[in-house]
Amino acid sequence: NGGSRKTGKLLGKRVVITAGGTREPLDPVRFLGNKSSGKQGVALAEAAVDAGADVILIHGHMDVAPPQNVKLHSIQTALELRAATLSAAAGADVVIMAAAVADFRPASVSMGKIKKRDDVADPVISLVRNPDILVEVVAHRSAQNLSQLIVGFAAETGDADCDARSYAEAKLKRKGCDLLVVNEVGPDEDGAERVFGQESNTVEIIALDGAEPVHAAGSKRAVADAVVALVAERLGTS
Ligand code: CTP
Ligand code: CA
Repeated sequence: NGGSRKTGKLLGKRVVITAGGTREPLDPVRFLGNKSSGKQGVALAEAAVDAGADVILIHGHMDVAPPQNVKLHSIQTALELRAATLSAAAGADVVIMAAAVADFRPASVSMGKIKKRDDVADPVISLVRNPDILVEVVAHRSAQNLSQLIVGFAAETGDADCDARSYAEAKLKRKGCDLLVVNEVGPDEDGAERVFGQESNTVEIIALDGAEPVHAAGSKRAVADAVVALVAERLGTS
C-alpha cells in the first residue's frame, strides 16, 4: 500500500476508541466538564488507523481536531457516550476507553438559565452517579459471548494510604477489562502538570491476567503505538 507507517498489525480489525471529556449540563449555557484534551485518544485513533484498523472514534469535548480516516461520533454527556459506545461495541474486536467520563451529573438540569437572586439562597448542585461504561462494556462482552479485547485508562494520584499503582491494580480488578493504561496525574515534584493538555505521557500498562506491566513514555503518539502493539500482540496479529 506504500504507506511507510502502515504496519498492518491491526489490519481489518474493528476498533472503537472513546476520547475527550464529557460535559454534563446544568442549564442551557453551563456544564460540568473536565480537563481532558482528547490528545491521547486522538493519538490512539491515528496509531490504530496507521496499523490498518477500521476505527470508530466516539468523542466528547476535545482541544484538538479529530483525525482523518476514522468514523466520528460526537457526544456530550456520559449517558450519550454510554449509548454510542455500547452500540458500537457490539461489532468491535477492540474497545479502548480513553475518554474522561464524568463520574457524576447534576441531578436535574434547569430548563432556563440559573439566575442570581437576592431573595433566595444560592443554589447547591446535587449530583447523581453516572453508569460505569467500561464495566458495562465488559458485562456486554460476557453476555454476548464476544471475542473482544477491552482496554481502560486510569488517571491515578497516590495518597498517604496507597500509591497510584496499587489503586490502579484495584481498579483493573473492579473494571474487569483486559488492559489498563495507567498514568499518574496532577502536578509533578516541581508543581507542573504532568498529563492533561501536555504533549507527552508516561504510562504503565497493566494486565488483568497478571502479565508483566509494560512501561511506555514519550509523545502521546509513542504511548498510543505501545498500546496498539500490545493490543496486536494479544489479538495474535503482531
Ligand atoms: N469510565 C467509564 N465510565 C465511567 C467512569 C469511567 O467507562 N462512568 C472509564 C474511563 O473511560 C476509563 C476507566 O473507566 O477507561 C477508568 O476511569 P477512572 O475515572 O480512572 O475510574 P473510576 O472508576 O471512575 O474511579 P475514580 O473514582 O478513581 O474516578
Ligand atoms: Ca472517574
